[in-house]
Amino acid sequence: MKNIDSYTHVRGESIYLDDIPLLEGSLFAAVYDSPVAHGKIISIDISAAAQMTGVAGIFTAKDIPGENQIGGIVPDEELLAGEHVHFCGMPIVLVVATSEEIARAAAKKIKVNIEPLAVITDPREAWAKGELIIPPRTFQLGDTANAFTSCEFIFDGRADTNGQEHLYIETQGAYSLPLENGGIRIYSSTQGPTAVQRTAARVLGLSMNKLEVDTTRLGGGFGGKEDQATTWGVLCALATYHLKKPVKFSLHRMEDMRMTGKRHPYSSDFKIGLDKDLKILAYEVTFFQNAGAAADLSPAVMERTLFHCTNSYFVPNVKATAYSCRTHLPPNTAFRGFGGPQGMFVIEAAIAKAAEELNIPASRIQERNLLHSGDEFPYGQIAESEANECWKETDRLYQIDTLRKEIESFNSKNRLLKKGMALMPICFGISFTKTLMNQARSLVHVYTDGTVGISTGAVEMGQGVNTKILQVAAEIFSISPDKIKINPTNTWRIANTSPSAASATADLNGKATEIACREILKRLQAVAKEECIPVAYIGKTEIPPLEVKDEWIFINGKKTDWSWAKLVMAAYTKRVSLSELAHYTPPNIHYDQKKEKGHPFAYHVYGTAIISVTVDCLRGIYETDSVKVVHDFGKSMNTLIDMGQCEGGIVQGIGWMTMEEIVYDKEGKLRSNALSTYKVPDIYSVPKEILVQPLNTAKDNLAIFRSKAVGEPPLMYGIGAYFALRNAVHSFNPLAKIPFDTPMTPEKILMALYSNVNTPVALAD
Ligand code: MTE
Ligand code: HPA
Ligand code: MOS
Repeated sequence: MKNIDSYTHVRGESIYLDDIPLLEGSLFAAVYDSPVAHGKIISIDISAAAQMTGVAGIFTAKDIPGENQIGGIVPDEELLAGEHVHFCGMPIVLVVATSEEIARAAAKKIKVNIEPLAVITDPREAWAKGELIIPPRTFQLGDTANAFTSCEFIFDGRADTNGQEHLYIETQGAYSLPLENGGIRIYSSTQGPTAVQRTAARVLGLSMNKLEVDTTRLGGGFGGKEDQATTWGVLCALATYHLKKPVKFSLHRMEDMRMTGKRHPYSSDFKIGLDKDLKILAYEVTFFQNAGAAADLSPAVMERTLFHCTNSYFVPNVKATAYSCRTHLPPNTAFRGFGGPQGMFVIEAAIAKAAEELNIPASRIQERNLLHSGDEFPYGQIAESEANECWKETDRLYQIDTLRKEIESFNSKNRLLKKGMALMPICFGISFTKTLMNQARSLVHVYTDGTVGISTGAVEMGQGVNTKILQVAAEIFSISPDKIKINPTNTWRIANTSPSAASATADLNGKATEIACREILKRLQAVAKEECIPVAYIGKTEIPPLEVKDEWIFINGKKTDWSWAKLVMAAYTKRVSLSELAHYTPPNIHYDQKKEKGHPFAYHVYGTAIISVTVDCLRGIYETDSVKVVHDFGKSMNTLIDMGQCEGGIVQGIGWMTMEEIVYDKEGKLRSNALSTYKVPDIYSVPKEILVQPLNTAKDNLAIFRSKAVGEPPLMYGIGAYFALRNAVHSFNPLAKIPFDTPMTPEKILMALYSNVNTPVALAD
């Protein structure tokens, strides 16, 4: 089934925040944000701005009626800077005016005197100064110190990954309006409507039931709107609270890039030990996470880095420690993979380093150490599926050795073009790492004409969750999809929702929908038993099998003259409830943070990719030739959507690893602050070929209709692009010294190609 949004998308009729018709008298917001990364606010002069015609209100931290606090996990983030600023782009003053232009012009006239303080942008420096967001955490399995003594080979090194700009097509924004009795409705482009509601209540000193947050869909979120959409929703609500007027704030791209956090950059140290058969016996890793100026979601992201620090491998002795380091950058936040990719990169770097030193393909070490059923993850959960199934299928389908030989043959014939390939197995845990967040509700109404309306906490952001939820209802009720409508996500219909994140949205909200639909169906079947039994059976105890199928009632396999709609009307007439609110939580997940052991994930998603690239060794530029994947979808309930998620995730992952380069200067100012200075993959840089073969397994799992979560895992295939490029560079210059430092931009490739040789030019002669 096609994504139900495709019809309105291609016609430009889908409703995003900017498509909501504005009420008369609506005002527009802008902010004055800090030009300094760290400093003490000495004075704020709003006089010139206040005198501008059209300016309706100017608000600072002093105008916050409740708590000036938006921190979700740790209360360490002010909505508007009070005494200090902690990052460039931190909102200080909110300006509201009759037009966007006036609001922004007025913001420019505000003068804030800030006494600069020392700026830290590097996580290792923050760590050395004791600037930690939360105490460090360590995951441990076995005894690494002891295991290293019996290793044949030991390698250590450092690996760095940079951040990543979310670049959702729709920038952050919100629109709020006053309701009666002091209530406020906030239309918010958020992945977490409840977070906006809860935080607005806290900041405004209102009870949560006065705040209605409504979200039709997002033009992408990618994690960037899990927490950081809240700021804009709450700022609008603050202005509405004071002015009793509708207020809209839709960020310009450069404002969005400057003021919001990104994927966390990490700097890490690793040490890996192998025996003579290439079995990894021990792995130690220390992660320095660049959290930015406030916690935001960093503690949870850091936790997932630890969960995924051994990727798809079984390592019997592991010690992984992570530090969440406070720097003066915008608070970094969720981004597809949620810290997992950063953890996986480091073990892949460790394996690559070992392979390079031993002069063997990394894939030999990778394959030798893949997880098997029954293996224990460092956090205590036991693997239930085999990572090597996907690997074996990848090899069978795409012939790893043949591909390698083709590349070797190409490279031996070409001097200035070199190909490289890498394998990238993935293993990603599905569930929010915070166990309590794994809950969802679905409210299903069947109307008397037989149509169905569904509300859940799921937010549609392009990933197709609404289509999947609709499919659930269509399947359970056995009615046509066009009889079903998924409603905008709204905190008055569905309360206390978890954000749409962790790839678990369809599982959680889909299962709640399944329960609600089954409950209603049960009632309808009871009505059918009473109402549509043929006369011959009346009074008999044996009732023939009855089925509601394809919008008709079947008795004994025969279609009756009872339609779905007639049955629904009969139930209504008999005063049977046609609505249900169901609650779902996945069974058997738990985690003990004191022991750092448990069973945090409902299940894991596996897969293996082969990535092939070609490097132009004169210019340092490159192309991705192909990405060939075997991916574990479970039993995909929507192949079109799931393939789309794979392709999008792969390209996004390759972008992170190769070209997207976030640059902050030493003063903490974002230099890559526009699309002219921050390069994302375009149609010319996507792989020439992406093949995704589903691994068909009949195994049971906890996914909705056994269709495993797909939102984040494919991004991690992109990590292979870095290692493929590295291999290509090494085949040009075997002595090349290449730090594990992403993104692998053309500039860095060029430097690497001619590194560590006395006469660089001779290489290209
Ligand atoms: N796909 C699109 N088109 N747009 C998005 O914003 N977000 C990703 C992924 N795929 C995203 C996307 C992220 S970060 C997550 S966690 C999941 O979708 C969230 O949706 P799901 O839980 O329904 O998979
Ligand atoms: N993934 C995404 N978002 C989250 C998670 C997670 O595991 N935990 C808390 N927020
Ligand atoms: Mo996704 S990073 O969990 O929003």
